[in-house]
Amino acid sequence: MGHITISLPDPEATRALGARIAQLSPPGTVILLSGPLGAGKTTLVEGAAQALHAGRTASPTFVIAHSYTGAAMRISHLDLYRIEDPRDIEDLDLSAYIAADGITLVEWPERAAAERWPEDRIEVDLRLTGEAREARVTMFGALETAIALADIRALSDPLV
Ligand SMILES: Nc1ncnc2c1ncn2[C@@H]1O[C@H](COP(=O)(O)OP(=O)(O)OP(=O)(O)O)[C@@H](O)[C@H]1O
Ligand SMILES: [Mg+2]
Repeated sequence: MGHITISLPDPEATRALGARIAQLSPPGTVILLSGPLGAGKTTLVEGAAQALHAGRTASPTFVIAHSYTGAAMRISHLDLYRIEDPRDIEDLDLSAYIAADGITLVEWPERAAAERWPEDRIEVDLRLTGEAREARVTMFGALETAIALADIRALSDPLV
């Protein structure tokens, strides 16, 4: 598993990372966003949505999923924070929320057992470092060869 660590000095950098990941992800990619409360998971989703011209994102705290249509590629945004009872997760058909024709970003993926997520996925672990944040990005499965980690790191380079 290849991984990189990227420092994110401000929310704009978190959004830029989300944009970068969205632009490099093939349709069907699942992106698991881990990290404590306030780590920047929703901020990263905002950047992904902006990059795919999906407009502004609302955090789906009170619903499980938001789907953004009208975007360059469908974005499915799941937030499992409120599903605290493991039995509720077991009953949930996660595949119903995963967009085959777009990207799926998941906050609080650890609410579900790890084996419930597809093998081909990106994991982003966000950590608080003082006022700033740090992201560790790991590619799994086919994405390890499909996406160059160096391309993800180059946050400020224009994509062609
Ligand atoms: N790199 C960064 N440096 C400093 N602040 C940041 C950074 N990225 C995001 N933030 C800020 O952190 C705060 C929390 O961000 P956000 O809501 O995205 O967190 P979250 O991980 O989704 O939290 P929750 O677990 O509650 O859903 C926001 O005010 C956001 O602007
Ligand atoms: Mg959030």
